[in-house]
Amino acid sequence: MIAPRRALRDVFPYQPGKSIASVQRELGLKTVVKLASNENPLGPSPLAMAAYRKADKACALYPEGTSPELRSALARFHGVEPESIIVGNGSDEIIRLLCEAFLDPEDEVVVSQHAFIRFKQQASMMGARVIEVPMTDWTHDLGLMAQAASPRTKLVFVANPNNPTGTYNTQEELEGLLASVPKTSLVVLDEAYFQFAESIPGYPKSLPELVNKHDNLVVIRTFSKAYGLAGLRVGYGVADCELTGWLDRIRMPFNVSLPAQRACVEALKDAAFVKRGVAVSDSQRQVVARGLGELGFGVGDSATNFVFARAPIPGRELFKALVRQGVIIRPLDEYGLPHHVRISIGTAVQNRALFAALKKVLAKVPA
Ligand SMILES: Cc1ncc(COP(=O)(O)O)c(C=O)c1O
Repeated sequence: MIAPRRALRDVFPYQPGKSIASVQRELGLKTVVKLASNENPLGPSPLAMAAYRKADKACALYPEGTSPELRSALARFHGVEPESIIVGNGSDEIIRLLCEAFLDPEDEVVVSQHAFIRFKQQASMMGARVIEVPMTDWTHDLGLMAQAASPRTKLVFVANPNNPTGTYNTQEELEGLLASVPKTSLVVLDEAYFQFAESIPGYPKSLPELVNKHDNLVVIRTFSKAYGLAGLRVGYGVADCELTGWLDRIRMPFNVSLPAQRACVEALKDAAFVKRGVAVSDSQRQVVARGLGELGFGVGDSATNFVFARAPIPGRELFKALVRQGVIIRPLDEYGLPHHVRISIGTAVQNRALFAALKKVLAKVPA
């Protein structure tokens, strides 16, 4: 066997949320509720889907590789230049491109201990040295992260709000980080859950304000969560155009499919859909948090469409037992949190199914 690169020896595949189809296949269940990947329980944006369907005739042709129409639409949406936008196959691709573009072996990357796991996975694959900084109250401690950054630090990752802890950092904290890190360190601000947090007082105004002010800041967003388009795989980064130019050079030639590009242009116009999804998430999150509390979970505050909770039994045991009841949640042992789980907020109907299943499972646990 040919040996892979040294940096890949300890790499394991990313563990995505278990799929509905796999549970149906394995257990022969008809109805399965998935609350494991923070998708939109209302489905996709209808405006986006109309454009997706209309794109069928163009599918014989390659898409435009640079996604020009989508980048122009995003540029208008955010008040920036199209050249400062890079579109990817999910925001995951942007994370990958950043690591591939900027990390030499032994370069340093600063993340916080329970940050979105793809940051450290992708950085490790480039052979970088990952410095994990402890959290404070399950929140990135941007002061400590700034202290950990040195002239050897190339990337500082901040998911805001963070997955899986659901917590967020304020504009003031972020500005403190940006003022303290070396100008040669790029701050990667991943705002996958932006729409669920933007109305919180003190939540940062990153686009276009902070990006215009700092050429060592890149902001990442996604169409997978609030727009309900996780299956299309589209995310993007916004930064100084010299930086996006490097990512553009190394991306796959046709990294975003043609129906996906067209659908996302329309999704940006569907503010009503986003608003409805956020309202459902906000009201149902309270119901879910209260219900979990009554069942003995320790539930944290969340600025997202999921809750992070300490479970009364080990997270993986709970996950397995709930799957048998047709409900998929996310255990967090991969994050070094064997007693915690992450549960996406579903519709009222889905959440009732969650609690029916939870009550059955927990009734069997000896007191
Ligand atoms: C914080 C964060 N960033 C990025 C992603 C990747 O999303 P996608 O590749 O679907 O855009 C996720 C997905 O769960 C996430 O939680």
